[in-house]
Amino acid sequence: MEVLEAIRSRKSIRAFRPDPVPEHVLIKLLGVATRAPSAVNLQPWEFFIVRGKALKEVKSVYLEDYRFGKLPDPDIPVGDTRDIAPVLEGVYKERQVALAKQIFNIMGITKANKKMEWSEKMMQFYDAPTVIIVAVDKVLQGNWPILDVGLVTQNITLAAQEFGLGTCIMRAIVDYPKHLRKIVGIPESKRIIVGLAIGYPDWDHPIAGLKTTREEIDNIVTFVG
Ligand SMILES: Cc1cc2nc3c(=O)[nH]c(=O)nc-3n(C[C@H](O)[C@H](O)[C@H](O)COP(=O)(O)O)c2cc1C
Repeated sequence: MEVLEAIRSRKSIRAFRPDPVPEHVLIKLLGVATRAPSAVNLQPWEFFIVRGKALKEVKSVYLEDYRFGKLPDPDIPVGDTRDIAPVLEGVYKERQVALAKQIFNIMGITKANKKMEWSEKMMQFYDAPTVIIVAVDKVLQGNWPILDVGLVTQNITLAAQEFGLGTCIMRAIVDYPKHLRKIVGIPESKRIIVGLAIGYPDWDHPIAGLKTTREEIDNIVTFVG
């Protein structure tokens, strides 16, 4: 796949087939993705791949906490979290609302209980057969490692397509780090940054038709000199 085509065709996948992703595929994918650049070649990332019984267990306690209204407590602060997303204003709020509207329209969701059901689906990581959790050692302070993780994460999403895989980068996956430390065995010494749902996309699902919008490039570019 050409680079530009991979960038253009990538999109978040929110419906997966149950087929497992073979280990050798994940290893190959991560092998390519970790060609990502990082500050002074730190390569701060570590990957925890969660599947099967462990994933089932994570999903079960996540759903319980979510239904109980437990506030997310991610290792990476995401702002003033009163619900499952940061409290936003202005154009950022508009974009967040536009995304929700697009999803609810496509899914034909109008009622509050159905919206809740969709949120619960998210807290089940859209039933992906595998999730990847990206963590960095706490000895690495500051924000650079987070940028580096962003780069490797994007590489995973792009390269995944070459293997017929779809991904959704998900903050929801890292909402309750306590459970991840206990069930997945991620030590206290690691900062849990982000997660990805990964699997073979269910292209027949209505949500597969979602194409998110982007700001006009002229509105966000300033030429100087
Ligand atoms: C850091 C980060 C966290 C995200 N967390 C979630 C999430 O918890 N749930 C979800 O459904 N999508 C999540 N997304 C996906 C975004 O909603 C998505 O990337 C955005 O709407 C643009 O759509 P696209 O990826 O299809 O182009 C996240 C994306 C990023 C980069």
